[in-house]
Amino acid sequence: MLRLRLSPTGASGGTGAPVVASGGPAPRGKDATNGTSGFDPRRVKADFPIFATPRPKPLIYLDSAATSQKPQVVLDAMSRYYTTCNANIHRGVYGIAEEATALYEDARRRFAAFVNASPREIVFTRNSTEALNLVARAWGGWALRAGDAILLTPMEHHSNLVPWHMLAAEKQLELRFIPLTDSGELDLEALPKRLADGRVKLVSFVHVSNVLGTVNPVTEIARVAKQHGATVVVDASQSAAHMKLDVRALGADFVACTSHKMLGPTGIGVLWGRRELLEAMPPFLGGGEMIRTVSLTESTWNELPWKFEAGTMCIAEAVGLAAAVNYLESLGMEHVFAHDRALAATCMARLAEVPGVRLLGPPADRRGGVVAFTVAGVHPHDVATVLDRDGVCVRAGHHCAMPLHEHLGVPASVRASFHCYSLPEDVDTLVTGLHQVTKLFAR
Ligand SMILES: Cc1ncc(COP(=O)(O)O)c(C=O)c1O
Repeated sequence: MLRLRLSPTGASGGTGAPVVASGGPAPRGKDATNGTSGFDPRRVKADFPIFATPRPKPLIYLDSAATSQKPQVVLDAMSRYYTTCNANIHRGVYGIAEEATALYEDARRRFAAFVNASPREIVFTRNSTEALNLVARAWGGWALRAGDAILLTPMEHHSNLVPWHMLAAEKQLELRFIPLTDSGELDLEALPKRLADGRVKLVSFVHVSNVLGTVNPVTEIARVAKQHGATVVVDASQSAAHMKLDVRALGADFVACTSHKMLGPTGIGVLWGRRELLEAMPPFLGGGEMIRTVSLTESTWNELPWKFEAGTMCIAEAVGLAAAVNYLESLGMEHVFAHDRALAATCMARLAEVPGVRLLGPPADRRGGVVAFTVAGVHPHDVATVLDRDGVCVRAGHHCAMPLHEHLGVPASVRASFHCYSLPEDVDTLVTGLHQVTKLFAR
């Protein structure tokens, strides 16, 4: 079986070669600047063909926390893979199979370099939900015993609650929660108390809340959790797409990411795990590729990371993800984050002018590019439906965070979320639309 060598350190990403970047964007550096902030979202937006698609009203896409739009380079990379070297990976000894394998493993190295990890610790999954389920089933099933406790937060997406509910019911585990402050942040003063009896074996929490926008202090929480002997899982679904993520510096043991929020395709996510844990825990799914040997009655496992990649994997999607990561890096993650936050701040200031709007979550300087709110007397679905008439796409509902909405005392909310292609004018259109909403429903 052909195996491409993975860089042992991975920090430099092995070749890290942006194989999929040919025909991609030139590194933007100063070219993309507007001369002040170092970043020009108008030029960025032109790289996303969906915005040039003719439609009755221009698309004002404010739902990037649900999924991001894709730049042309990602679409091209995937199309190039399918048109030039589509073949199954790791199996064929013929030319295009080797090319496909090289692209897939290069994508792993590329992602590893992006988050400062070793490629051996980068496991491709379907999405971050599957990455979190992998940890719950494979690590949790192996490491946790009846009477152990898991510490979570009330601001988790269902993807970081339900897998633990399932495991807790199966293994008689206790679920604990770090309380929230009134501003929608974690009350870290309560953390040592939650950990004091030594029964918490796992602390799992979101880096950036998909509703409140809260940016949680991962390194601080991880440090305290480790002092109490707990393993740490971080749901980076909303952060990896918007800010520089260094998984080693976070101090966690597992980090889950999802490509489709990172300008990449759907159908691929990433679990980063500490090598010693990935080595020690059993596989998640069984089948082809994840084995070393199989007899009629038993099997042995492949080495990392393939031990956790059963069956034919998401090859084109890995190619697309690598192109997305190249693109994000060409923009500069620090510019992307600063841009998203600035728009969130503008949005919050402008929404405060709209009668009946209640903003959820902390002040702008302590959040990412997510702004959720309610409009007094108007159901979020009605708000979103009226905004849609002007081409404005916002999310309405519980955003897969029902416990958080219950805590906030609202059944649902409206959410505007930003990415590198979002513009201040998008906020203007949103605010104008909201004034119309309030007039319409005041009648
Ligand atoms: C914070 C958070 N965690 C997990 C997920 C799940 O991502 P996916 O559906 O790609 O698995 C999301 C998606 O909205 C999210 O916002």
